[in-house]
Amino acid sequence: MTSQIPKTDDASNASVLAAMGGPEHRRIGIPPLAQGARVAVVGLGLMGARHVTAALRRGHTIVGLVDPSANPHALQLNPDLASLRCDTLAELRSDTVDLLVIATTADLHHRLATEAFGLGFRRIVIEKPVSQSVDEAFDIKLRAQEKGVRVIVNHGRRYCDAYARVRQLKGEMGDIRTVTLRFGGGALGCVGTHWIDLANTLIDAKATHVFAKETEPSENPRGVRFNDPGASVMIVYENGACAFIDTRDDVGFVGGAAISFSKGELTWTDEFGPWTLRRRREGDLDRPLSRYGTPLFPSLFSPSVTALDPTNLLWRHNGEQAVLGYAASAMDDALGDHPPISGIDAAIQTMRVYAAARVSHVTSSSVCIDNIESASLARRFSIP
Ligand SMILES: NC(=O)c1ccc[n+]([C@@H]2O[C@H](COP(=O)([O-])OP(=O)(O)OC[C@H]3O[C@@H](n4cnc5c(N)ncnc54)[C@H](O)[C@@H]3O)[C@@H](O)[C@H]2O)c1
Repeated sequence: MTSQIPKTDDASNASVLAAMGGPEHRRIGIPPLAQGARVAVVGLGLMGARHVTAALRRGHTIVGLVDPSANPHALQLNPDLASLRCDTLAELRSDTVDLLVIATTADLHHRLATEAFGLGFRRIVIEKPVSQSVDEAFDIKLRAQEKGVRVIVNHGRRYCDAYARVRQLKGEMGDIRTVTLRFGGGALGCVGTHWIDLANTLIDAKATHVFAKETEPSENPRGVRFNDPGASVMIVYENGACAFIDTRDDVGFVGGAAISFSKGELTWTDEFGPWTLRRRREGDLDRPLSRYGTPLFPSLFSPSVTALDPTNLLWRHNGEQAVLGYAASAMDDALGDHPPISGIDAAIQTMRVYAAARVSHVTSSSVCIDNIESASLARRFSIP
């Protein structure tokens, strides 16, 4: 597939990114950034509105908006776009759209993606979680392949420059051995899949086994048709690394992240505050790992240029800007022709870990991901 999308130069990219705020939280310059694409968004709620904002900031043109509800959120924010609204995807002409964004809740992702393939859309961003079942995610991949469609799933931290730099620390500090991500508020499907995907990205190996204990969710904020329990989850990877993901319903605060390398550790309690890197002194790097009392020394690790500035309040409250940046990056990813950064294969892996966690809770045992029975791969979890 050859891109017909006009590319911008680095100088204009920098100014676009600067205007967005928190530019360091996105991967800059890779892949080549695109501007001026014709974008249509399906599902105009909270996340659809962010995609509209991100597309406009990115210099794209909104050419279609699909949502059957009377006054969707994105149009409340952008009333000037009201004339573009239609009720169904079939009302859009695929030859007038460079990029389609599916930002409805997950119960509709597979149906809408399938319909979009049939209508001839060629580049599609699907919000996470990509689907409500592993089989649906796999079916999206097969149908996309058959039609030559490029599908990107917005697991946004895959575009984050700060986490890319964390991965680069492996050269000096040894491999990542454990990733611990602790969150309250439940929602392993909606929120926890972000963290599963981040652990997969950081450890960069195949997840093989999962053990999980679910907690009891309260009513889902997106409606009673959704049931999205939180859980404490342990994931084992084929290189021996492990991830611990805690999205419990009975915890009401963000505990933070701890990423253990062989020779040091990176931690944060506030993803948008300063991150702390502690590592062995250079002369100690080759000492045996059994010398675990070897002192670690803090060194600067900033998720952004501004995060270490105590007077910079913008970064500290920058979550919304980061989400907008990730949405723009997912569009860049979909509009390029490079190997996808956040493609359907990675999203399938995340769904497989998620399904394994749900099976593990029911069976109270460790689940081998390659041996999940077909009924569990087909099971639709009512996650948003
Ligand atoms: N990447 C992120 O950081 C992030 C953040 C929040 C939400 N999400 C994901 O985004 C998705 C949407 O979440 P949300 O909070 O925007 O949900 P939402 O409920 O606010 O919005 C969903 C919208 O879809 C519309 N809709 C329903 N049926 C439709 C149809 N057939 N065609 C078109 N539109 C239809 C609804 O009217 C509603 O406006 C979810 O999958 C969620 O997990 C991702």
